[in-house]
Amino acid sequence: MNRKLRLGVNIDHVATIRNARGIAHPDPVRAARMAAEAGADGITAHLREDRRHISDDDIERLTDQIDLPLNFEMAATDEMLAIALRHKPHAACLVPEKREELTTEGGLDAHGGENHLRRYVDELAKAGIRVSLFIDPSESQLRSAKRLGAPVVELHTGCYAEAGADSWEGELERLVRAAALADDLGLECHAGHGLSYDNVGPVAAIPNLVELNIGHFLIGEAIFGGMDSAIKRMRALMDQARAEALGSRSA
Ligand code: PXP
Repeated sequence: MNRKLRLGVNIDHVATIRNARGIAHPDPVRAARMAAEAGADGITAHLREDRRHISDDDIERLTDQIDLPLNFEMAATDEMLAIALRHKPHAACLVPEKREELTTEGGLDAHGGENHLRRYVDELAKAGIRVSLFIDPSESQLRSAKRLGAPVVELHTGCYAEAGADSWEGELERLVRAAALADDLGLECHAGHGLSYDNVGPVAAIPNLVELNIGHFLIGEAIFGGMDSAIKRMRALMDQARAEALGSRSA
């Protein structure tokens, strides 16, 4: 059981609001600084091929100006690989990307795409960047991640989040089993997508998870109560769920 669950804050949607006006405000780098002050353990940013939110300049400023580890989300393309190798973020999370999607729908097909992904995993790792693969919580995807030599996987929690509390039991069980298998395989296990105050607890209680990455909900909540309050409340809910899970295990 990992006692401490890290919170990575995804600041993409600060850039979404900025880009709606094509001006410099609000600045995602300022949001990253505030997230750090509020207790975030890392910053995540996804540079999409169409640059719909985060820009190349944001990545440059995040790597130069923010002390927290940067988790650079990227598609497995040569353009993104070159950018990652130039900036050398702490971590790179390989995600699937379709131009027409609203957000990252479903995990990367590490199983079907082993041949394509291998070079990206190898080159990022050679540059000292910690590689993670954003995958669905399934055994075949985890085993492929292991074969590819990625040290980290991030489990896609979208199906769990979409199911809602009345019917998320099956999806939660998939996440629990996948996180346990990741641990058995020696993979560091993260999770994220669609997490909110209402659904974070059961995921935070999964003992093998080390990090949650949360974006859209936190940035939305920050509109109402500020970044500081949104991040502190999320942190508190995660810590409480983890402490209760720890207590029930030792009881
Ligand atoms: N993790 C990954 C790999 C993602 O692509 C995203 C969404 O960009 C998130 C976590 C965060 O998801 P959400 O914005 O729904 O919290």
